[in-house]
Amino acid sequence: MSFPRHRPRRLRRTAAWRDAVRETTLAPDQLVLPLFLVPGDGVADPVASMPGVFQHSVDEAVKVAREAHALGVAGVILFGIPAGKDPEGSAAWDPEGPVCRGLRAIRDEVPGLLRWADVCMCEYTDHGHCGVLTAGGDVDNDRTLPLLARAAVAYADAGADAVCPSDMMDGRVAAIRDALDEADHPETVIVSYAVKYASAFYGPFRDAAHSTPTSGDRRSYQMDPANGREAYLEALADLDEGADLIMVKPAGPYLDVLSSLRDVVDVPLVAYQVSGEYAALKAAAERGWLDGDRVIDESLVAIRRAGARLIITYAALDVARRIRGA
Ligand code: PBG
Repeated sequence: MSFPRHRPRRLRRTAAWRDAVRETTLAPDQLVLPLFLVPGDGVADPVASMPGVFQHSVDEAVKVAREAHALGVAGVILFGIPAGKDPEGSAAWDPEGPVCRGLRAIRDEVPGLLRWADVCMCEYTDHGHCGVLTAGGDVDNDRTLPLLARAAVAYADAGADAVCPSDMMDGRVAAIRDALDEADHPETVIVSYAVKYASAFYGPFRDAAHSTPTSGDRRSYQMDPANGREAYLEALADLDEGADLIMVKPAGPYLDVLSSLRDVVDVPLVAYQVSGEYAALKAAAERGWLDGDRVIDESLVAIRRAGARLIITYAALDVARRIRGA
């Protein structure tokens, strides 16, 4: 078909036509809101590099969760900042830590909202790495697995609908699945951060979660940003080990990875629009250089178009309010 018979503008002329032929939707039930939980009561400390994001005590987080649920947001994913850290990150499985308390409180007060718990050691270890260290300072894969499993079981005990390992140790999904089943949690979902890159876009998160490594970086366990095909290997291995949902992270700079993975695996995909993606858009918007609402919406539609069923985004509440006209 060619011009002048073919005029693609015909279907763009009015809002009614654009609405009628739109391929991709964006709705609150496709969004998951990250929450940073700290000890204490009545705490809502703004995170400087992430406008609109706070560190919340459990009581404050419940209020936010209630609003998220009222707006139709699918769920929340909880990150914890513990009162103290040690070399093995033992606060990760503390049943009185912020994440376990938060899970129980949201379960009791906001039933129906999905409760996800991030599983990783980096917020809990005093060295800031995602696993325990060998004497030589490497991250010890196999000795980390039981610690991750222990944290996952603690979160399932506290009412997590899903546990979400983000540490990138090999074999963690199998270790967690076995431990959950043994602890009588066969129903707990595993959302695996299967395809997680060693990205500089995590910078603001590490301020919010106090999880910057004190030495070195995460390149010996997170994926090399230059590698696309390796995503298949990671995703297929995690599915084989028992992952229910597969995540790609970051989202925006890795849409090619998301899109090609969509053709390779058949589970719903989750994409994480990470702290640096959010911070960059917000900072430009604050300067008046970009229209903040429109670039956020566009960035999320693009992630959906590339193949994500669910998007974890710090903008979930704002976007849901906008969609709902609230
Ligand atoms: C924990 C974890 C990180 C993020 C999610 N889980 C940080 C990291 O790997 O350093 C990043 C999220 C974000 O940047 O928004 N390992």
